[in-house]
This record gives sequence, C-alpha cells and structure tokens, in this order.
Amino acid sequence: MTAIDPNRVIVFDTSLRDGEQAPGFSMNTRGKRRLAHALAELGVDVIEAGFPSASPDDFAAVAGIAREVRGASIAGLARATRGDIEACARAVEHAERPRIHTFISTSPLHRLHKLNMDKAQVLESAVAAVELAKRYVDDVEFSAEDAIRTEPEYLVEIFSAVIAAGARTVNVPDTVGYSTPTEVRELFARLKREVVGADRVIFSCHCHNDLGLAVANSLAALEGGARQVECTVNGIGERAGNAALEELVMVLRTRQERYGMSTGINTQKLYPTSRLLQSITGQEVQRNKAIVGENAFAHEAGIHQHGMLKHRATYEIMHPEDVGITKSELVLGKHSGRHALKDRLTRMGYSLDEAETDKVFASFKALADKKKEIYDADLEALVLAVTGGNSSSYQLLSLSIQSATGESRMPTASVRLSTPDGGEVCEAAVGDGPVDALFRALSRAIGAEIILRSFHIRSISYGSDAMGQATVEAVWDGKEHIGRGTSTDILESSALAWLDVANRLLKARARAAAAVEEVAGV
Ligand code: KIV
Ligand code: ZN
Repeated sequence: MTAIDPNRVIVFDTSLRDGEQAPGFSMNTRGKRRLAHALAELGVDVIEAGFPSASPDDFAAVAGIAREVRGASIAGLARATRGDIEACARAVEHAERPRIHTFISTSPLHRLHKLNMDKAQVLESAVAAVELAKRYVDDVEFSAEDAIRTEPEYLVEIFSAVIAAGARTVNVPDTVGYSTPTEVRELFARLKREVVGADRVIFSCHCHNDLGLAVANSLAALEGGARQVECTVNGIGERAGNAALEELVMVLRTRQERYGMSTGINTQKLYPTSRLLQSITGQEVQRNKAIVGENAFAHEAGIHQHGMLKHRATYEIMHPEDVGITKSELVLGKHSGRHALKDRLTRMGYSLDEAETDKVFASFKALADKKKEIYDADLEALVLAVTGGNSSSYQLLSLSIQSATGESRMPTASVRLSTPDGGEVCEAAVGDGPVDALFRALSRAIGAEIILRSFHIRSISYGSDAMGQATVEAVWDGKEHIGRGTSTDILESSALAWLDVANRLLKARARAAAAVEEVAGV
C-alpha cells in the first residue's frame, strides 16, 4: 500500500455543479462534457459533475461524464434522501472512481426554517444517507450544509456519526460566505481534534465568496487541517461564487515555502481551462482577475517596465508561462495549414477528434478569407460553434437586413432557414430597429415567440474585422436558456444566437410535452 502524502491537497472542482447552477453560467451537455475532459487534463482530483436528481438533463450529463472521463473521481451531488442517492448512484456507476456526495443542512436556521427537523432527525437522516450511499460506492462524501453557522459541538457529533457510517470525506461548507479566516482555521483545528474517527477521513472546505474571502478562508481551512478544497474555475458559483481554483493552486505553488503543500494540478493548463469555461458560458472574467485576467501579467506603468527589464522578479511573482499564457496570441492566417491549426488548438487545451478538427479547419479557412489575422479568441469561437451545434434544428441559410433612420424609417429583415425535417422556410418582418426586425422575422419563420431576458454583443478579438459574439438569454418554465452566435457580421451573430436559444427552447418544450404524454399514458 502506498503511503498517503499528508501534505497533498485534494482539488475538488464543482464548476459543473455549484458553478453551473449560478444564473448566467448554465452549460449545455456538450459544453459540460468538454469542460469535464479539460478538468481531468488539468489534474483535478474530483470532478463534481452535477446534481443528477435535479433534472433528466443533469442526470444525462453526469452519466455521460462518468462514462467517458478518465483520470479523476466523478462525483454527483445528492440530498440525504433515498431518491436522490439512488439517482446519483445510477448516474456515476460507470465512472472509473465514482463518488456520492450527500448533504443535509445542519445549522439552527436551516433546521428550523428549511427542514423543520430537530437535531436528532437531521443526524438520523445524515447517517441513513451515508449508509445507503455506501451500498453503491465506497467513496462517500458527507456535507453539513451551512456548517459555519452550525453549533460546533453538533458538527462534532454529526461528523463522528457519519464517519462511523462510512463517510470518507467530511465537508464543512461556508454556504453563505459568512466566515473569516481565523474562525475557519480554529473550527477545522477543533473538528480535527474532537471528531471521532477524524484520522480516518479527509476534511474538506467549501467556501463561498459573499464577503470576498473564499480563497483566504480555504487557505485557513488548510492551515487548520483540511486536505480537500472545493473550488471552481474562475471562481464561478452561487451568488458571489466559490473559491477560485486557479487562485488557490497558485497560492500553494507560489508560497510553497509557507504552506508546504502540493496539488496534482498542471498549472500550465490553468489559463486554457479558464478560457474554455469563458467560451462555454459566454461570461468573461474581469480584466484584473487574479491569475487569468487580461491584466494579470501586464506591466504597463513605466516604472514597472523599467524594473522588469532589469530583473523580472522586481514586479513578477509568477511567470505567465507557469499558468499557460503563451507569449503571442496572434496565431494563424490564411496560409496556415490543418497541422498548424491542430497544434495550436492542442496548446489551447482542446482535444478534438479528426471529424471535429476537419469542421473547425473548414470554418477557419472561411474565416481567414474574411479576416487577415486569426487570434486564439477567434479559434475558441470556431471550436464552440462547431462542437456546440445541433444538426436536427433550425439553421440559418441566409439573411438580408435593411437598416434605416429618419421619420419614415422602416428597418426590414428577411431570413431563410433550414427546418428540422429537412425543408426550408423564408420570412420577413419590419421592426423598431434592424435587430428587432431580424428577431421578428426569425420568430415568424419558426412559428414561435421567444421572449428574451437579455441580449448583448461583444467583440472577441482585435481590430474592426474582429468577430462579434452575440449572447441571448431566455427563460422558459423557470429555467434559463442561453444562446450564442459568432460571426464577423454582428447581425449574423445575433441571428445565430437567437436561433441557438430558440432551438434549445423548442427542444426543452418537446421534452416536457413528451413527459406529460408519458404520464398521461398517451
Ligand atoms: O454551499 C453549499 O453548502 C453547497 C453544499 C451542497 C456542499 O454547495
Ligand atoms: Zn456551495
């Protein structure tokens, strides 16, 4: 048996669960799978792939990831109920190393107002959940939701009980991001001292960022004895987010002499993974974001540049290469071949199969005819467009738009689409502006009204010929759907984004209708 390194920190990534459930960060199944592969390549130890009982889509995404992603443990989240745990067990069953992560709230506030249960009932449910999960997998994690606001002596009692029931990891979430570093360090040290069986399990922290302390609190938890950190790429997550994986990992690496701990993360994949997540969700990190923001390694001030030229260490505590930021972003042009493209995509963290590479190469060539210089951001958009598409849906064949200003203006749009059954449809409409006219024409063409919650366009690389990425958001049946489209023509990207969201909504409506029919026995 190999000895376990006491200073090895287990990195548990929950971008696909806590991150994905935050407004604006939803991902489709293909995006989730792509991110899961990237997380495994990054060297994450545990990937929390989702919450299988939340919806059939969530179940399918977790099951798909469990089947195809190798190298990391695959966890699913489950409330402390039979239904959730059984669904979770089925979803993760084909994983190389499956984990069931079950949780129940433990704080007085949650016991009273959320669960309407007393301490003994919560403890009984927690133990029963762990015992049930153990029938399916050996690797069971138990979380005491809102642990930070729970009576410490009760936490000691409940953790001792779930460890006796077989939990291998016990997690102490700061669910509402309320704690401070000193408090966290002291709590972990106390739990390590007082919990019965503490020496047989891994203590884990899960810090939210409501007061901007998630990373600091996670580091304090490690100082107090935790050896698993739950975190997300770019710090995405509920409300203000979770502890940012890249920040935690780079603190441990940059300040090795202070913490004396290590992770299994290949830090050179941090930046590509961050970019991948940004392109999947369409949500960019702020410019000054630590480690992965655009300014993180930029030294603009003259005095800094002067120092840097003399000795890099004057103002640089990490090198951009350490996190996978390569020197030049200018990558390819019209004459670049398939091999150069594939090589660049690999270095950006994409592992595409041959058919996908062919498709990306074809759209790369088409783009290179319109645009002289192609940047990483352009390639990301092409990869996403090619790998995120859905062939059995409405596709844009052509559009024509006439803009107009002045009193008698009548902006007009006409569109031609291919339909899911292989036919074609053409429609035209006037609107308050060219985009409004375009969306009205598309609505007529598919015969359904889509009410948008938001619409925005951003430039994704440089110059006036840069590609524009449009993002539209629509809500249906309480669930948020996001559509994206990219083109050098911003009206075309708007149409593509609108169709993307419309196709998703139509699919969701069809699924809901089929479920109703099934229940009705039609
Ligand atoms: O924040 C939280 O408490 C959680 C648990 C489900 C682990 O996300
Ligand atoms: Zn959380």
